This record gives sequence, structure tokens and C-alpha cells, in this order.
Amino acid sequence: MVIGSGGREHALVWALARSPRLTKLFCAPGNAGTARLATNLPVDLTDLDALMGLAQQNAIDLTVVGPEAPLCAGIVDRFQAAGLRIFGPSAAAARIEGDKAYAKHLMKQASVPTAEGRIFRNYQSGRDFIATRETGVVVKAAGLAAGKGVFVCPDPADALLALENIMVNRIFGDTGETVVVEELLKGQELSVIALASGRTIYVFETAQDHKPIGDGDTGPNTGGMGAYSPAPIATPEVMARVEADVLVPIVDALRNDGAPFCGVLYAGLMLTPGGPKVLEFNCRFGDPETQPLLMRMRGDLLELLAAVVDDRLEDVQIDWDPRPAVCVVMAAGGYPGKYETGHVIEGLDRVEQVPDVCVFHAGTREVEHMTVTAGGRVLGVTALGDDLATAQRRAYEAVGMIRFQGAYHRRDIAAKALGGP
Ligand code: AMP
Ligand code: GLY
Repeated sequence: MVIGSGGREHALVWALARSPRLTKLFCAPGNAGTARLATNLPVDLTDLDALMGLAQQNAIDLTVVGPEAPLCAGIVDRFQAAGLRIFGPSAAAARIEGDKAYAKHLMKQASVPTAEGRIFRNYQSGRDFIATRETGVVVKAAGLAAGKGVFVCPDPADALLALENIMVNRIFGDTGETVVVEELLKGQELSVIALASGRTIYVFETAQDHKPIGDGDTGPNTGGMGAYSPAPIATPEVMARVEADVLVPIVDALRNDGAPFCGVLYAGLMLTPGGPKVLEFNCRFGDPETQPLLMRMRGDLLELLAAVVDDRLEDVQIDWDPRPAVCVVMAAGGYPGKYETGHVIEGLDRVEQVPDVCVFHAGTREVEHMTVTAGGRVLGVTALGDDLATAQRRAYEAVGMIRFQGAYHRRDIAAKALGGP
């Protein structure tokens, strides 16, 4: 059973459905895309009792958790206490994502390179600190805020406003009780996704996200507007450094802290002139990065995830399609702000005939045999190609075949890797 309803979960369902070991696949709650490959089970993701009930009623052998909220809420601890097998970190280990103050503290302790930062639990002291800054700062709500809790402020005056919104106006609720204020780093960003189990770490092929809504990385941040894999900036030297200086020490630090990490560890990095530095950790697969990554993964994902849960990760062999993949997210007009839902999506049947193209559904729903929009990010149109330019062209050709009212997508996904602006 896959838990979640985004493009990441459709990609997980798509890859798991190919496993020869699979007998039956469920997705809770899923979307119109997962419904074609799995049995969708309607459920509220915050209702851990209901999720446990579904696992028990359907005699689920392995549950795979997509999003961070149930992980941070302790779904893994609950399932394990009930004797249910589940892929993902415990609540204690998921704090590496759910509590940015804890992550910062642990990074300092383990000498993991990251932006210099300070933690504030009091508005006044945060304000006094920002007032002394002459250069830009980044203000982060410490708790989960659906990717929206980070304010990059080249002008410290904007940082004061962000601090007030988070700590006083509580735009993210209790998530704003604690704030991290850190130095503004410059460089190219890179996502590194790894599996961690016991003392073993397996680093996936690289991928690059596009967080801002607008072309040329302009406008507010989103959950991610597109991704490509591999990322040419992730040279073998960079990857070796990330593994040795970031992944290994943080996994050790978590274990020493009584919170051994088992699941997907995702490091969001800035490649600075001084080397890679951590912007954040996530405790789960990235979305949309997982879509191009899983299109390139050869081998049995079910076997791989089961190996993580059973702590025998070193036994599994995974190969990667050398061909690059590009994923372009089609979103509802207005996202990441207010947007409409319920618009009919046309052209999906035709795109499904195109070889080496997968349309992963995110915010979609089936209504009277029609697929309609049901979220901000609607589809992840993903294509493989012999080279990155071909994968990019294919993905955009497929995007051009799909229509729904208000559809928006970035036009420059993967341009950076092709030497564009
Ligand atoms: P996070 O959720 O912490 O990864 O932050 C979201 C985005 O904000 C990142 O992908 C970066 O684009 C940006 N960001 C976060 N921290 C910093 C930083 N210290 N310096 C510059 N940009 C940052
Ligand atoms: N694509 C960014 C994330 O999954 O957090």
C-alpha cells in the first residue's frame, strides 16, 4: 500500500506495479492515475488510525509512505508497534525534516556543512538579531509548512516582515513557534536522494528540482515545478563529498541520538564556492524528483524497499537507464496561490500511446469517466530521451498534447543543464 496522492505516489505505484513479486497494490488515497494501476482507498492522511485500519483489513504486507506529514506524526512507530511492515523513518528520525531547529542542531554537532544559522523561540530576540544584519538572510519556520515556510530575503527589511508573519501573525500556525534565521547562500541547488538502512547508505542517481513558479527561477516557491535526472552539476567529486561530509555523518548523528534513520534521506544542497552546504533535509522521496528518477531506475523497486525495511540493503543490485529523463509539472492557474479545481483534462489517452513518456498524476480525480483537476500541481509529464535535449523536447511535446482550463507550466525545465539561462 502506497500512502499519498501526488505525482511521487503515482510514480511509486507505477514502478511497484512492475515488480514480479507484487500480488496486489493499493494506494491511499491515491488519484485518477494511481486508480489505473492500484486499488485506491479513500482516507484522510492525518488519520493514522484509519490508515492502520486499512493496512489490517487489506492484509497489507508492506506500506510505503510518500509524504512527510504522516511520517512526522509517527505513522511508522504506530504500524511497527502493531506488527505491520512499513517503509519510512520513525517520528524521531523524521524530525530531521519536521523540525528545522533540530536539523540545524544535529548538523552543527556532526560538523555537516550548512548555512550559519541561529534558532529563535522569541520574536523580540529574532528581530534584534535581524536588525544587526547588513546582508541578506533566510527566515524559516521550523515546523512543516508544505514547502512554503522559507523566506529568502536579500534585503534584511523583508526578513523582519517574514519573521513577524511567521511568529506574530502565525501564518503557518504553531509551526511558527520556532524560527531559524540563516545566512543567504549563493550557488546552484542540487537534490541528493539516498536510501538509509542501519549503517548502509545507497545514493540514487542525481536529480534537479525547479522550486519557483516562474521561468528563470522567479516568483514564489512551490512544491516543485519540474525536474530532470541526471544533474550534470553533480560530478563524481561533488557526490563523493556529499556522501562523506553530509550523508554519512548525519546518519551517524541520528543513530547516536537514539533515532536511527531507515527510509529515504533527501538532502537539499547549495553548491557554494566553499563546497556543498545543506539547505534542508527531507525524510522522504522528493516530488517531482522521484518521477524522472523512477523512470530511469531498472530493477525491482519492491525488492529494494523491502530490503531497506529488512536491513539487507547491501544485498540489492539496482541499475539505472543511462538515458536522461525530464519531468514538466502542469499546474492549475494561480498555484501556489488560490486555484480552481474540477476542470476536465483532455489529451491523456493520446499521450499514453507515446513511447518513453509517462504522465504521472498529482491533483486529479475521476468523475463520470472523465479525469478532472483536483489540486495545485495536476500532472508530471515525464519523458526519457537519448540525451537531455531529446528528453526535454519529448516532455514538452507531450505537455502540448494535454489541455485543461487555466493550465500553467514552466517553459525552461532542464534549460540550466543544457547551458541555458
Ligand atoms: P528549504 O525548504 O529549506 O529547502 O528552502 C526552500 C528553498 O529556499 C531552497 O530550495 C532554496 O532555494 C531556498 N533556500 C533555503 N535556504 C537557503 C539559504 N540558506 N540560502 C539561500 N537560499 C536558501
Ligand atoms: N521537490 C522538493 C521536495 O520534494 O521537497
